[in-house]
Amino acid sequence: MSQETWTSVDRHIAARLAPHDAALEGALKASDDAGLPAISVSAPQGKMLHVLARTVGAKRILEIGTLGGYSTIWMARALAPGGRLVSLEYDAKHAEVARKNIARAGLADRAEVRVGKAIELLPALEKEKAGPFDLVFIDADKASIPDYFAWALKLARVGSLIVVDNVVRGGKILDDNSPDANVQGVRRFLDLAAKEKRVSATAIQTVGTKGYDGYALALVVS
Ligand code: SAH
Ligand code: DHB
Ligand code: MG
Repeated sequence: MSQETWTSVDRHIAARLAPHDAALEGALKASDDAGLPAISVSAPQGKMLHVLARTVGAKRILEIGTLGGYSTIWMARALAPGGRLVSLEYDAKHAEVARKNIARAGLADRAEVRVGKAIELLPALEKEKAGPFDLVFIDADKASIPDYFAWALKLARVGSLIVVDNVVRGGKILDDNSPDANVQGVRRFLDLAAKEKRVSATAIQTVGTKGYDGYALALVVS
């Protein structure tokens, strides 16, 4: 199977189960126009995040890594009435594009983008008692996934779901000698999740428009 097939099948699925409306289409276009990298989740993945948020009845969602707010829109649309989403983004330009996209989607009343290094913004969420978050989506710098996972646990409750993007990276994670900090971050996260008694976790390999990658799911069980 080739990348061409994976892309076509993703289109086939997206056209049926994860169609774009003007806000989602506009979010990708505005991101592209502003020169942001095309690394948002795919439409089927966005819909998966939406379905997962509804599965846990999410009233509070935390996203680490906003980019142009594409995944943010999918998840914010799944919030239970009165729900809130906080998304953390290091790059001020990305955050500005995302805020406009979120506003265009009519979600500015429930989705907030905070600018800064996630690791420096997370303590404020704890102090504010912004949690517990029912769903945490980790999708920023991969080297810091272990730190973000620890924070996600701190800000979660039993029953919260933690989703981690990009945990396969074309199979690069098999290389235990990799000098790539992103690969090492993912490897360390998988080892931590394996030992962590508070979660029941798995990771799933995926193919699609974004090539060969995968995501991890960790349910907080105690
Ligand atoms: N979740 C988005 C994609 C995020 S891409 C979507 O699917 O639509 C990863 C984002 O994380 C980029 O915008 C990048 O600027 C941001 N990022 C990288 N390092 C970060 C850090 N230390 N803190 C917060 N955000 C970071
Ligand atoms: C990259 C980051 C992502 O979050 C993603 O989904 C794909 C690629 C990257 O940094 O290359
Ligand atoms: Mg990603």
